[in-house]
Amino acid sequence: MVNRSSFWTQANALLRKNLTFQKRNVNTNLRLILFPLILCILLVVIQSLIDAQFNTPDFKCGCACPDKSTTCSDSEKVCGVQYSNQIQIIDCAIPKPPEWPPILQLPSEFCKDNRTCPVKVLFTANNQSFGQILSDNMFPSAPIVNYSDIMASLVSNVVGSNKNPEETNFNEPAFTSDLPLFLVQNQCPRNNTGLIFPYQIAGTTLEKEIKCAQGTRFWRKSSTDINNELYNGYQRDNTRQTDDVASAFDFLDSNEHGFNITVWYKSYFKTGFRPSTLLRIPRSVNLISNAYLQFLRGPGTKMIFEFVKEMPKSRTPFRIEVASLLGGLFFTWVVLQLFPVVLTSLVYEKQQKLRIMMKMHGLGDGPYWMISYGYFLALSVIYMLCFVICGSVLGLKFFTLNDYSIQFVFYFIYINLQISLAFLLSSFFSNVKTATVTAYIAVFGTGLLGGFLFQFFLQDSSFPRGWIICMELYPGFALYRGLYEFAQSATIASSSRTYGMRWQDLSDSSNGMKEVLIIMFAEWKLVFFVAYYIDQVLSTGSGKTPLFFLKGFQKKPLSSFSKPGIQRQGSKVLAQMEKPDVIQEREKVEQLLREPTVNHAIVCDDLKKFYPGKDGNPGKFAVRELFLAVPRGECFGMLGPNGAGKTSFISMMIGLTKPTSGAAYVQGLDVRAHMDGIYTSMGVCPQHDLLWESLTGREHLLFYGRLKNLKGSVLNQAVEESLKSLNLFHGGVADKQAGKYSGGMKRRLSVAISLIGDPKVVYMDEPSTGLDPASRKCLWNVIKLAKRDRAIILTTHSMEEAEALCDRLGIFVDGSLQCIGNPKELKGRYGGTYVFTMTASSDHEKDVENMVQQLTPNANKIYHLSGTQKFELPKEDVKIANVFQAVELAKRKFTVVAWGLADTTLEDVFIKVAREAHAFDTLS
Ligand SMILES: *[C@@H]1O[C@H](CO)[C@@H](O)[C@H](O)[C@H]1NC(C)=O
Ligand SMILES: *[C@@H]1O[C@H](CO)[C@@H](O)[C@H](O)[C@H]1NC(C)=O
Ligand SMILES: *[C@@H]1O[C@H](CO)[C@@H](O)[C@H](O)[C@H]1NC(C)=O
Repeated sequence: MVNRSSFWTQANALLRKNLTFQKRNVNTNLRLILFPLILCILLVVIQSLIDAQFNTPDFKCGCACPDKSTTCSDSEKVCGVQYSNQIQIIDCAIPKPPEWPPILQLPSEFCKDNRTCPVKVLFTANNQSFGQILSDNMFPSAPIVNYSDIMASLVSNVVGSNKNPEETNFNEPAFTSDLPLFLVQNQCPRNNTGLIFPYQIAGTTLEKEIKCAQGTRFWRKSSTDINNELYNGYQRDNTRQTDDVASAFDFLDSNEHGFNITVWYKSYFKTGFRPSTLLRIPRSVNLISNAYLQFLRGPGTKMIFEFVKEMPKSRTPFRIEVASLLGGLFFTWVVLQLFPVVLTSLVYEKQQKLRIMMKMHGLGDGPYWMISYGYFLALSVIYMLCFVICGSVLGLKFFTLNDYSIQFVFYFIYINLQISLAFLLSSFFSNVKTATVTAYIAVFGTGLLGGFLFQFFLQDSSFPRGWIICMELYPGFALYRGLYEFAQSATIASSSRTYGMRWQDLSDSSNGMKEVLIIMFAEWKLVFFVAYYIDQVLSTGSGKTPLFFLKGFQKKPLSSFSKPGIQRQGSKVLAQMEKPDVIQEREKVEQLLREPTVNHAIVCDDLKKFYPGKDGNPGKFAVRELFLAVPRGECFGMLGPNGAGKTSFISMMIGLTKPTSGAAYVQGLDVRAHMDGIYTSMGVCPQHDLLWESLTGREHLLFYGRLKNLKGSVLNQAVEESLKSLNLFHGGVADKQAGKYSGGMKRRLSVAISLIGDPKVVYMDEPSTGLDPASRKCLWNVIKLAKRDRAIILTTHSMEEAEALCDRLGIFVDGSLQCIGNPKELKGRYGGTYVFTMTASSDHEKDVENMVQQLTPNANKIYHLSGTQKFELPKEDVKIANVFQAVELAKRKFTVVAWGLADTTLEDVFIKVAREAHAFDTLS
């Protein structure tokens, strides 16, 4: 029956329209795509600024002139650790790291009084006498110093320091700081003055003060006691131990046959509760091992711990990889940037009702989804490609070091998820502004939360993994995690000069990429189907119930026309008793329902629309008990005051709202269930023009024509004809963007759209509003021509238009049809009077009234203002000739300024019907 366009025709039409649309929006698109480029350039600029900063001598290995001379050229300078401060040293090449005597860690608040400097060592054992012997062996009773080489003899002593170690052993702060070294021994001399001795390190001679510290051992009953004592000492200051305990030992069940100990050591907390990375435990262990050896083998036995030394290293210049450092946050923003773009674009089509307009002209959901999704996907892919290529060309390690195929898969899955999400959310927004604001808040909020909260959890290894995975269910965090992993891999790779993330790294349990990919992939599929489902249920016009997918299992509804005759309630029939024309229409509808014919394009059967009351207002019937049958070839005019229910009726017929009860059949298809089928043979000219601002009139018509399955030369011809007939052809109007059209041109374009592609049923909601008389005339001609083989329902406020165009009229008041018939019949039925107008001076008003009374006693004065009076004269009482005679007579008696006699107009009928209906309403 209907020449329905195929899926691919619709897809093609939509694609071409979108491409044209995007061609016009090329600036916006360019700006969007430039965003990642600009960001990458910004990162490169920041990077070069930082590099320039690190290129200064402050961050280079320190250099000095050899032999303590003060002036020398740069090339003569010798560089090395010995000339560097703590920061510079990081840059230095250290081919031969210095050897440092092992240091015993002493409490940091040590030896403030500079006198005896006691060091406490706690110990316990299962066998106290054993423990006592061992602890007595720990410290020498007097210093063993060879004054000709103090440095070498240090290893024979217990050297302690309260200076904290650094991250590496390239530098031993115990030696290089100003604090003195301590030799821990059993007894210190009374005058603990200290001794300054010179020592050589990396070819330089430095000086160091050395003092005595008195090591005392204390027996404790159990390791619990030791533990408590250490704990209480710790509590005095939150960041370090302030007591004087250097270390503690539990000898457990050790004896001459076995050695088994527990050592308590000190670690020093810097800010942020991170212990320094180096710990001075080796000397403690060596100390107690020596004591045990001496217990076994006698006092002469010694296991000398000569030095500690870092491994050699080459130069490690300072470098901060900005892209990797800021990557998580910045790149999250870059990728999320697409989300508002997609969302607002979808909401725009919804807010401007363009989606439903396309749907009403036959665009199926399948093509719409495919093309829209494909379009956004293409946009996103190009955007991401620009992003990755820009970053790579600019040499950001974030991109160049990680495997491109992982990056591609990651971004591809994510943008798909993001588009699906935008589709899902667009169902819940109806306003572009709200959607935009919400989307941008989400973008920036996600980035910031990711950077400052989520990353904190990621870095905290004690944070449960399950919770991290839970958080990654939020797509923004999944994205953040993925980018974070890329950044981590790039940072590690750039400092160690290897390759970043590869596929085999995904099996590494600490690498979160695998879980992120799985989560995002699953979410993409899920969100996509939920979005499609919600779109089907929520979107206006599809007419699907939340369980539409079960439709196949339910019993098919009774096929349209084969509905059995319905018993109506008597009261309703009574209510319409006095409107024979309306009753006749009802009977016609019932007849049609019993014996369907293909001739009637529109059949409404007891259609009702009820709007429930809101905020305490009572509910309202917008349409009640509407029976209507419109055959093909007829233009049916709907008249009625504002708010009479005309637009509600049309909304039901075009699928924007659902009838509360009753049914309507268009081309034999039920509006409640088969709207999609109806759309293929329907045209709509809505009350407000629904057009794309940036498309031209011709492009609009081409698009809708293609949707209606017009192709090739037929399409072009139809468009040309349509443009010409509606006077949109001349002066390049057809190729101007619709946004620049005047109101009347838009209106004409809307009418042209509703008629293109030969729809069988056309609804026109006040098509001629805002048109100049010439355009209106031309529009009328088009409609007259168009109604020949189709049914048109037209609403209008212009009686002239109704009379000129409509074969039948229905006057709508308060949601129900008050009368129906062709204009002549209506005038005859409701008119039946002439309107006689006469203007005379106010002195003669009475004379005019008398004259009219003589013509007919049934005359009825309907208007009176300063000498001008209007009367209704029943047609059966007066002959026109008599009226002329009476006027001639009157002219002789007094001055008649003006006079006239008119047949009833449709306007009179309209006013009368509306008034009567209101009177009836107020009575009942
Ligand atoms: C405790 O240790 C000492 C010294 O090694 C040993 O002589 C003694 O037998 C030990 N006592 C016990 C009960 O093992
Ligand atoms: C002290 O050190 C010097 C130089 O290393 C050495 O010659 C001398 O024998 C040492 N003296 C003792 C008593 O060890
Ligand atoms: C060392 O002592 C602890 C605590 O008593 C014990 O659990 C462990 O088995 C002992 N180790 C050896 C090697 O005896």
